[in-house]
Amino acid sequence: MVSQNIEKALNKQIRIEAESSQIYLSMACWAESKGFEGVAEFMFAQADEEREHMLKLLKYLIERGGNAVISELSKPATGFNSPKQMFEEVLEHEIFVSNSINDLVSITFEEKDFATNNFLQWYVAEQIEEEATARTILDKINLIGDDKSGFYLFDKDVRSMIVVPSV
Ligand code: FEO
Repeated sequence: MVSQNIEKALNKQIRIEAESSQIYLSMACWAESKGFEGVAEFMFAQADEEREHMLKLLKYLIERGGNAVISELSKPATGFNSPKQMFEEVLEHEIFVSNSINDLVSITFEEKDFATNNFLQWYVAEQIEEEATARTILDKINLIGDDKSGFYLFDKDVRSMIVVPSV
């Protein structure tokens, strides 16, 4: 059985993961509308992955006897200046998610909930990957600069970075 504080903190994270999925879905739609097909495919896959992150938390909370709450979600941004600006927002968002996971982990110490702490280690590792992926993509975009043919290759290349969910 989880404490009320842990239940509240897990529900907050469930909402953050659900909002992440919406944010990336919106980015996928924008990329698709601009003809960046590889980027769109990558972001559709990211949106699916975030939904898996949300479900994994939700199922854990239920399994531990807590009440999972499905919250109203904030409306995601719909327009971006460029793929570069969009991926800068992805990185910024993933850093925000990492901080949120860290806060959650620190609550598990306060509550002496070592089972939830152990469960959350998967998310700690996942956030290292997610931030690294966003940084790698931004490095590639910065290398290309204004080279249009380079961007065409990048758009194809980013497809190869799609990760099959491991949850
Ligand atoms: Fe589930 Fe990308 O944070």
